[in-house]
Amino acid sequence: MSASEKPELYRDLARQLAALIAGEPDPIANAANTAALIYHGLPDLNWAGFYFRNGAELVLGPFQGKPACVRIPIGKGVCGTAAARGTTLLVPNVHDFPGHIACDPDSRSELVVPLIKDGSVLGVLDLDSPLPARFDGLDRDGCEQLVALLLVHYRKYARGKV
Ligand code: SME
Repeated sequence: MSASEKPELYRDLARQLAALIAGEPDPIANAANTAALIYHGLPDLNWAGFYFRNGAELVLGPFQGKPACVRIPIGKGVCGTAAARGTTLLVPNVHDFPGHIACDPDSRSELVVPLIKDGSVLGVLDLDSPLPARFDGLDRDGCEQLVALLLVHYRKYARGKV
């Protein structure tokens, strides 16, 4: 996909996400549909889904892809590091990331966006790809916008753990 096509793809995904979650307060249902939308809407992914914070750990949430590690300590791996820092992590080659947790040995690059509400990290959105350097700044911006859409939606309903 050329760089010029990505912003339009993410705008389209944002429109679809808004329609999917409109009027639905259940956080698990909405996270599940978000994972499915991203997994099937973006090319070259082998995993897309959520981990939610539970105390000092991240616990596996709705996802698409192969079965994955269930619990990740905050501060460990790419997901745990993004959660600890409260910032998006874009990892071109997971083998170069100290402490990377290899749920699927096919994964080569990874993008993790924290879910932050009222200053607290509620969890992360994690995307994996079998291609090295699959994600760039446009993917980061696009996925941060999708997460923002989800969080604004949850704030509106103010219900559930997300
Ligand atoms: N690779 C991640 C673990 C989650 S799986 O990729 C689904 C990490 O290092 O945090």
